[in-house]
Amino acid sequence: MTAITEFVRYEAQGTVGVVTVNNPPVNALSQGVREGIKGGIEAGMADASVTSIVLACDGRTFIAGADITEFGKPPTEPGLHEVIGTIESSNKPVVAAIHGTALGGGLETALGCHYRVAVASAKVGLPEVKLGLLPGAGGTQRLPRVVGVPMALTMIAGGAPIGAKKALEVGLVDEIVDGDLTEGAIEFAKKVVAEGRPLVKISDQNEKLEDARKNPSLFADFRKSIARKSRNFEAPENCIKAVEGAVNLPFDEGLKRERELFMELMQGEQSGAQQYFFFAERLANKIPDVPKDTPLLDINTAGIIGAGTMGGGIAMNFLQAGIPVTIVETKQEFLDKGMDIIKSNYAATVSKGRMSQDAMDKCMSLLTGSINLEDLSDVDIVIEAIFENMDVKKDIFGKLDKICKQGAILATNTSTLDIDEIGEATTRPEYVIGLHFFSPANVMKLLEEVRTKKTSATVMATCMALAKRIGKIPAMVGVCEGFVGNRILAQRGEQANKLILEGAKLEDVDRVLFDFGLPMGPFAMSDLAGNDVGWRIRQGKGVTSPVADAICELGRFGQKTGDGYYHYEKGNRTPQPDPIVEDIIINAARDAGINRRQVSDEEILKRCVYPMINEAAKILEEGIASRASDIDVIWVYGYGWPVYRGGPMRYADHIGLDNIYNDMLKFKEEFGDEWTPAPLLEKLAKEGKGFKDL
Ligand code: 3HC
Repeated sequence: MTAITEFVRYEAQGTVGVVTVNNPPVNALSQGVREGIKGGIEAGMADASVTSIVLACDGRTFIAGADITEFGKPPTEPGLHEVIGTIESSNKPVVAAIHGTALGGGLETALGCHYRVAVASAKVGLPEVKLGLLPGAGGTQRLPRVVGVPMALTMIAGGAPIGAKKALEVGLVDEIVDGDLTEGAIEFAKKVVAEGRPLVKISDQNEKLEDARKNPSLFADFRKSIARKSRNFEAPENCIKAVEGAVNLPFDEGLKRERELFMELMQGEQSGAQQYFFFAERLANKIPDVPKDTPLLDINTAGIIGAGTMGGGIAMNFLQAGIPVTIVETKQEFLDKGMDIIKSNYAATVSKGRMSQDAMDKCMSLLTGSINLEDLSDVDIVIEAIFENMDVKKDIFGKLDKICKQGAILATNTSTLDIDEIGEATTRPEYVIGLHFFSPANVMKLLEEVRTKKTSATVMATCMALAKRIGKIPAMVGVCEGFVGNRILAQRGEQANKLILEGAKLEDVDRVLFDFGLPMGPFAMSDLAGNDVGWRIRQGKGVTSPVADAICELGRFGQKTGDGYYHYEKGNRTPQPDPIVEDIIINAARDAGINRRQVSDEEILKRCVYPMINEAAKILEEGIASRASDIDVIWVYGYGWPVYRGGPMRYADHIGLDNIYNDMLKFKEEFGDEWTPAPLLEKLAKEGKGFKDL
């Protein structure tokens, strides 16, 4: 065995040379890996005892892509093109042995090999688009030559991987290996030699491009099909252009085109933001004061209290992860209704072809309904998801404390209440935590986890791991009014309401935020969520908001009543401006003695977004969030902040905190003390720093 570099070794096993990569955790293509693969292949070519070569990886996965931490640094030799060129031009067949995930540069390396074998559980894909990039090592040129243009477009501009079985069907993988992968790959390589099979160079193959050459409108159709999903994103368009290059240019010219388009993206802000976000998301998994090796509690069963929209949605996450759920309601009729809704939600997914009937049946078989809290005595975690009332919640937690076994986690889905106080209703506050799901809970990715002063490290670590199991992205925050997400949202809502009184049209406020990249503006969002929700909260607190209250007093609760801030035609969710609402606003402004004026789009954006950033600075100062990037994760996954802007904190750094600070001072002069910059914002701005420097 020869160590080619620290990360790659070469060993002849009979007549097959095996090049093995070992660069945990994901065998990313760092400089030492690239050099090692090139050296390993060259060693195989020079080794007279071998007639073929296998490229395999140790650890949990095949190469998962370029080393993203190297992006933005000066390039180091050899480049990935050179490595792949060495593989492809080998005079002995090279077989890639794929397990785990062959992603990005990893799949591009495999596409440079003459053959590919994989275990059945492997996945292959080109996810660069999710980093605001395109496959930059020949992937846009080679993949269409293997799977054809339509599928290559879907994989490259969409970024989702495909499983080994599908890869076999479309010719991306040549054989599925049962049993030991390296052994299987060696056998396959021997077979290639014994049968005198050709050295398949994908770059020479043009057959699969013919259809697209004859049918160039295919690209226009594809563009149309992804327009909504890829709104404002730069990378998907460059991905498409690169594949057009594959179709219209000779291979080498196509590679040059790919390079140009790749560099264009690499130098742009969007890809910087998306790469930043890749790491932000992973960092959010780690709680600074909870050691990585904290022992976890076993979670094999869950109890959910409340079979309403939230409880039902939460239950579905657990069921889909194969965790049995007991869902508890106060009355049989509520329980039946809730269970029916879960069932019909699944049935709708099945009818759309997104779930098999078997999978649905399995989920439903894991669900038990009950009207008896005592049935939760043996579950490993309880999530309470009832209406927001402190007394009722404290009563329930007091009961759970008596009913649930020792070691069970007692969680609340509250989005507004003091969880420290809820914890004190039990004799085991260290087991109490907030798990704030976002509606619809079976769809939205974010799980805002809320630690109290007493939540134990074990409970926190268990809930972070649980989030991953049930397909959620977690971020841990502390207790405060609205926690992190809604506390920041409230700032935006307040300004949006002021702006419409001052003269901005509400559809303009919504349009500016939509164009910025959010899924919808604050008024359309309120109409979707139900205006009565906020109204009841305001009533509970004894506060008023003239326009919002007037709208609710007319029963205009939003989409569900056909009218809210906008009018909705039956069966149509498109908001239509309504003169009645305009009158309400004008009257409210007059009553408040406000002289209405023209408000520019620029002012709308700054007035809505800067108070969010300022509030986030306060949240950081108070230690409610441990990192600026956690706030970004919350806003991207919980509220649809466009990932190509990284999140509000990354956006603030992009604008420059000094610019934001100066604008805030101007607004303060005009509108008063609510625009006082947070001390942390002021400090960073004056030091010429950003949130990234914290
Ligand atoms: N570069 C550097 N670090 C990487 C990495 C990469 N490509 N992929 C993952 N990591 C790191 C993560 O940051 C994480 O680090 P941490 O433990 O310090 O937080 C660690 O590896 C484990 O990653 P995950 O927590 O994501 O592990 P999972 O098992 O959940 O997922 C994975 C594994 C599916 C491979 C996932 O990590 C992933 O999707 N990685 C990115 C894949 C990708 O985007 N590849 C394309 C890169 S761009 C490219 O190849 C350009 C080329 O075309 C030229």
